Amino acid sequence: QTEACGVVVGNATSGPPRAVRGETHSLVLPQQQCKFFSLTETPEDYTIIVDEEGFLELPSSEHLSVADATWLALNVVSGGGSFSSSQPIGVTKIAKSVIAPLADQNISVFMLSTYQTDFILVRERDLPFVTHTLSSEFTILRVVNGEPVAADNLAITNGFVKPKMVQRPVIHPLSSPSNRFCVTSLDPDTLPTVATLLMDVMFYSSGVKDAMAASDDGGHIRFFSFSLIEGYISLVMDVQTQQRFPSNLLFTSASGELWKMVRIGGQPLGFDECGIVAQISEPLAAADIPAYYISTFKFDHALVPEENINSVVSALKVSQAEKH
Ligand code: ARG
Repeated sequence: QTEACGVVVGNATSGPPRAVRGETHSLVLPQQQCKFFSLTETPEDYTIIVDEEGFLELPSSEHLSVADATWLALNVVSGGGSFSSSQPIGVTKIAKSVIAPLADQNISVFMLSTYQTDFILVRERDLPFVTHTLSSEFTILRVVNGEPVAADNLAITNGFVKPKMVQRPVIHPLSSPSNRFCVTSLDPDTLPTVATLLMDVMFYSSGVKDAMAASDDGGHIRFFSFSLIEGYISLVMDVQTQQRFPSNLLFTSASGELWKMVRIGGQPLGFDECGIVAQISEPLAAADIPAYYISTFKFDHALVPEENINSVVSALKVSQAEKH
């Protein structure tokens, strides 16, 4: 492979040991210690998010760019009973309570929505600020060797700016590819039966040629996201790719809705800029539109129900026009 890979290293939590190794293109199921593995193919590159154990499994390569610092993966676990089925899914659910407050405190995040949950990755060194920022609404527990322990809170409050009640215009250019996506899951026990297909889809399906052909507005792009996190599998793929899987193998949500994508970014977004996820997710939350959100090494990707894509794109374009 000549494409560059991106790696964001995260911290381990717990779960059955499973891993996929990238460069040898082999699915390695037993004995690995990696509990957080995600691989997303975009027209530009492959983005790998792995925990430290998984990172040690990766061969060193000149094609591998590694994001600075170590990131921690947070996810919101709602307390017993308060979960109602009418609650919006994905980043819409956490836009006001988590994403906006972190953006207000200039804390950079990296998002990974999966079928099961939404991970908010923050730099490990930012954890005290994250804990402090979210302390009024959340208890932050850190899973260390499988055990949840309370994360340190900051004693000092100096330097915390009051959230400014200002509009957050969309800064980066947007595009919306023509693909229709589904967000699915797979029983880990059936993974071996689709391992070859997965390899083919991820690495041998002429991604490079497509990338040259069409990645601008209206075009079809390569986008496939696989994650195996604490024993749970999540797959985000377009309907053409889904059709290659044996029927009834992939779980979808009951409504089986399809999703369209808004890609965010013209120049690579980097890892330091804050508020990009907030710029997109706040208007979606205000309009009660569910959304998944997947950050990759260079760009961000929001998935919204296909019936909402036109209104979402026009609302975000209006927000974009408001920037000074
Ligand atoms: N750091 C951005 C934010 O806080 C999101 C990630 C953008 N960068 C990227 N490489 N995808 O909103």
